[in-house]
Amino acid sequence: MSIQPTEVRSNVRPSVRQWIRNGIEVGVFSDADDASRSAANEIATLIRQRAAEGQRCVLGLATGSTPVRVYRELIRLHREEDLSMQNVVTFNLDEYFPIQPNAAQSYVRFMNEQLFDHVDIRRENVHIPDGTVSIESVSEYCHQYESRIEQLGGIDIQLLGIGRTGHIGFNEPGSEQSSTTRLVRLSEITRVDAANDFGGIDNVPRMAITMGVGTILRSRRIRLLAFGEHKSAIVDRAVQGAISHTVPATYLHDHRNVEFLLDEPAASMLTLPETETLAR
Ligand code: GLP
Repeated sequence: MSIQPTEVRSNVRPSVRQWIRNGIEVGVFSDADDASRSAANEIATLIRQRAAEGQRCVLGLATGSTPVRVYRELIRLHREEDLSMQNVVTFNLDEYFPIQPNAAQSYVRFMNEQLFDHVDIRRENVHIPDGTVSIESVSEYCHQYESRIEQLGGIDIQLLGIGRTGHIGFNEPGSEQSSTTRLVRLSEITRVDAANDFGGIDNVPRMAITMGVGTILRSRRIRLLAFGEHKSAIVDRAVQGAISHTVPATYLHDHRNVEFLLDEPAASMLTLPETETLAR
């Protein structure tokens, strides 16, 4: 697909250079804080709009270090600018398997500490894949997770990070575009990247439950964040490479409302055209 400058979606966004490449809107922000504030503002705007209409807002949430600043900003908006999350329903992308929810590395614990303990979300509206279900019932459990998303009207905004393998959620290379929530085997690269958190690679679970690529692609908006030079090579392949199961993030090219929010180092390998910097 050709490279074209794109229109700004809103005039309240911070300074950002934007292009569309392979169907992906790429936004390069001055730093990770600016990018995260932009994502948090978009989320907060939708939550408020829906609340004004008496409707729920369904968010797809991600873990890892990348979205932490977005959660911090949502907490700030809750504390200082009256953002309520009473009408918010959340579905997390993934969870290690097996894992106890109170384990230091569990995504349940992560989400509680990074967001849910600090806002007024109703606990019954929070969904995170359960790392304690038995291996015999995990397939049925995944099916129910998928159905629950549909019953609640589908995901309005899905936040994503990206792994070094190009995984989104835990959809590792080889994942199919139509895949749904399921139990997957983690790649060695992903396990190496998680080794520090688990005190050594031998303690990193070999499996995880993840929403599928198809599940993610059914979200109405997708916002992928990537920060730091160490993400630049995979961001390059995800944006500029051909769609391929070898880099699952390339499946996002087919989505109608997807944006990558990057800082300069993460965008440093992109060969994007020189265009004007859009005003703050
Ligand atoms: C894990 C998560 C992914 C996340 C990735 C990158 O694999 N399951 O959802 O995108 O880590 O993590 P980080 O944001 O810390 O680089």
